[in-house]
Amino acid sequence: MPKLTEIINLPDEMATLVIGQKMAGIAKAPLVVFLEGDLGAGKTTLVRGFLHGLGHEGIVKSPTYTLVETYTLPTATIYHFDLYRLSDPEELEFIGIRDYFEDSAIVLIEWPMKGEGFLPEADIRLCLATHEEAEGRILSIEFLTESGVAFKKGFKKK
Ligand SMILES: Nc1ncnc2c1ncn2[C@@H]1O[C@H](COP(=O)(O)OP(=O)(O)OP(=O)(O)O)[C@@H](O)[C@H]1O
Ligand SMILES: [Mg+2]
Repeated sequence: MPKLTEIINLPDEMATLVIGQKMAGIAKAPLVVFLEGDLGAGKTTLVRGFLHGLGHEGIVKSPTYTLVETYTLPTATIYHFDLYRLSDPEELEFIGIRDYFEDSAIVLIEWPMKGEGFLPEADIRLCLATHEEAEGRILSIEFLTESGVAFKKGFKKK
């Protein structure tokens, strides 16, 4: 499978929300999305845009302490993980991590490296980075599986 990458400039918070929303219009369950980037890079902001795009109107809490937040929406069940505080990836076994990756689910995971060895492969890998001397973020998107590549085709058309 060839690795396909897309690079997108996100000049402000609104741009991060809008790209999340755009992805929501294309994403189809089952889908696994890894979100990488430093603390404060904008991962949760992108998920917020994604959930709003799927019609979620309430707040989107960062799951830093709860590990996972669940959103049952008309088109899919969304599981938003933040594994930052996970001390041992094995803990994922105890919460029954496997059960989350169901056919009707879109799973978005912040800090996936903290769960290495206990997560399935990602269909799409998003990486947010800050600029050295400017506001804004750079987003790179890697489409890694067949589902990821199908997603890219939809993304291009929009
Ligand atoms: N494109 C952007 N340009 C400038 N600021 C942004 C951009 N996208 C998001 N931000 C801001 O970055 C800050 C941190 O965002 P967020 O909480 O989404 O980060 P995070 O990557 O989830 O962090 P953590 O790893 O701590 O969970 C927020 O104040 C948000 O408004
Ligand atoms: Mg976050």
